[in-house]
Amino acid sequence: MKDLRGKTAVITGAASGIGRAMALDLARRGVQLTLADVEPEALDAAAGEAGALGVRVLPVPTDVSDYAAMRALADAAFDHFGAVHILCNNAGISVGGALQEARHEDWQWAIGVNLWGVIHGVEAFVPRMIEQGQGGHIVNTASMAGLIASKGLGIYNTTKYAVVGLSETLAKDLRDDGIGVSVLCPMGVRTRIRESERNRPAALGAQGPAQPQPDLVGRWISPQEVSARVMEAIETNQLYVLTHFEGREHWDRRAGRIHHAFPDAPQ
Ligand SMILES: NC(=O)c1ccc[n+]([C@@H]2O[C@H](COP(=O)([O-])OP(=O)(O)OC[C@H]3O[C@@H](n4cnc5c(N)ncnc54)[C@H](O)[C@@H]3O)[C@@H](O)[C@H]2O)c1
Repeated sequence: MKDLRGKTAVITGAASGIGRAMALDLARRGVQLTLADVEPEALDAAAGEAGALGVRVLPVPTDVSDYAAMRALADAAFDHFGAVHILCNNAGISVGGALQEARHEDWQWAIGVNLWGVIHGVEAFVPRMIEQGQGGHIVNTASMAGLIASKGLGIYNTTKYAVVGLSETLAKDLRDDGIGVSVLCPMGVRTRIRESERNRPAALGAQGPAQPQPDLVGRWISPQEVSARVMEAIETNQLYVLTHFEGREHWDRRAGRIHHAFPDAPQ
């Protein structure tokens, strides 16, 4: 999408970190915003900041793991702005710890937010974006953890690998509809992701022990740096949005291991 001015975007997980940075960058480009999050106060604050940049902003408290809530978010966005051109399925949480020690509730929470949240976004918005016939762009926030497995990050890896696979296929499926797809795969970003437990629902073990978070390799960059890459990806229709040069050698090692695992062609 070359010219974003006057377009309309929906961003989940918009109250903090990467989502908030994308909201402000899109506002600076003249994009009207529907912002969604489970933290209503932080959401209102982010909406106020974006609105101060001169665009219309609609904050809608939304739990992305709840399909009915996501359908209501789509209704609100389409009713208010008449169209949705950019969808950022960004809300996410981090759960750490060895897989053999994972609680069932850890799986439910992480899959609910990180994977069902993205699926719900696709279900609730994409058919309507196709129907409106104006093209568009979808940004799914995965992680470098969607391309490389890290010890102690198995649940998160599982959800983010799925988001990469979904996004790669979605890009192919939507090519003829003029809707581009990007999948964002950062390494460390200075956000509140390591305080994800703040948003764990009580029914999914909110009183459980604090989750150990493994040390990540590479730099911790700012959400603004990440958002700048996302803006470029929307404007030039890039599928993979990679933010850390440090990730390349890890990817090369994984790709090399898979390359060597293929059997030779029969003689
Ligand atoms: N920070 C990193 O190092 C990093 C690296 C790779 C990928 N990511 C991904 O980036 C995305 C954004 O995370 P962030 O780093 O900005 O963290 P963050 O905690 O600062 O922001 C995440 C936002 O999502 C919201 N949220 C949580 N559960 C929700 C739910 N059920 N419904 C709606 N909103 C919900 C939170 O309230 C918060 O505002 C996530 O998908 C995360 O997995 C982050």
